[in-house]
Amino acid sequence: MSGRDEIVSPDAEGDERAVEAALRPKRLDEFVGQARVREQLSLVLQSALRRNRPPDHVLMSGSPGLGKTTLAMIIAAELGAPLRLTAGPAIERAGDLAAILSTLSEGEVLFIDEIHRMSRPAEEMLYMAMEDFRVDIVVGKGPGATAIPLDIAPFTLVGATTRAGLLPAPLRDRFGFVAHMEFYDVSELEQVLRRSARLLGVELPDEGAHEIARRSRGTPRIANRLLRRVRDYAEVRSGGVITRETAADALSLYEVDGEGLDRLDRAVLDALLRKFGGGPVGLSTLAIAVGEEPETVEVVAEPFLVRQGLLARTPRGRVATAAAWAHMGMQVPLDALGRPGSPPTLFDDPE
Ligand SMILES: Nc1ncnc2c1ncn2[C@@H]1O[C@H](COP(=O)(O)OP(=O)(O)OP(=O)(O)O)[C@@H](O)[C@H]1O
Ligand SMILES: [Mg+2]
Repeated sequence: MSGRDEIVSPDAEGDERAVEAALRPKRLDEFVGQARVREQLSLVLQSALRRNRPPDHVLMSGSPGLGKTTLAMIIAAELGAPLRLTAGPAIERAGDLAAILSTLSEGEVLFIDEIHRMSRPAEEMLYMAMEDFRVDIVVGKGPGATAIPLDIAPFTLVGATTRAGLLPAPLRDRFGFVAHMEFYDVSELEQVLRRSARLLGVELPDEGAHEIARRSRGTPRIANRLLRRVRDYAEVRSGGVITRETAADALSLYEVDGEGLDRLDRAVLDALLRKFGGGPVGLSTLAIAVGEEPETVEVVAEPFLVRQGLLARTPRGRVATAAAWAHMGMQVPLDALGRPGSPPTLFDDPE
């Protein structure tokens, strides 16, 4: 979106995808964290296997880099079923979808990534396919058009979306199982890191894992990326061992701070505190102050700052919380009566 090469961006960039493939857990019991989703899914899959029928359609929602694609691949692996991969933006016309559906084999897992970006006509075709394993192929145009019904093999649809709110209700309702992927806590990210380090042949003591995990924004993709950068640093500077200090030094070289804030996040907070006394200030004014597009500030920096409890969106504008002053090592300014500025209220989030 911003086009910046961002070390803490949750999106995978360029050749990162190849590295990710190598680090992907292949089976459910290798998949770290998401305990509830893992247990529920395991039941769904086991009972399907026992009945010898394809399981219900599965929808996975959650932020980028939390493991949706990984889990889709695991579902197929656990079922011992073939997997077909596609993505919403690739399905422009209903015909594109019909071509895929009509060539599915029985029990195949069809993974549609970014399913919220599928076109309307394709979406409507998918409703019928999901429910009745049937599609209507429309031949011809205008009054002479006819619909030819076509049976398709029973299959399991696995949909992934970063924007569950954008899915129309009729589509959402046709999934028998909806998995909400949560951000990972530090100890789960440590497990992800230890596993990745083993696969990459990197020596990672617990203290190093901890230092990287706590800066990874709750996201395995970011944890794995930081691990690679820290590994490079450690190879050159400290004989390859990732101690707490090596990790901290490497990440501060890449401008990732102790809570995972990067240069932009800190610039936003710094402007908000220093130039606007903690706010409230409008998004576009704040963006000008840091020399970025409002969209970049809103989409790239804000969600994480809000999640960390450092920034609040209020009807009157963006406001720094007491934690933001502390994080940036500054005193909350005193009001006219000499009291510390009261922390902003978090109600009425305009989002
Ligand atoms: N639970 C997990 N355990 C171990 N590694 C994980 C886990 N979840 C994700 N990863 C790692 O993080 C990387 C990103 O995961 P994945 O591609 O599945 O995310 P995603 O949710 O599909 O992201 P996007 O929304 O960008 O498509 C993978 O390479 C995988 O190695
Ligand atoms: Mg994905």
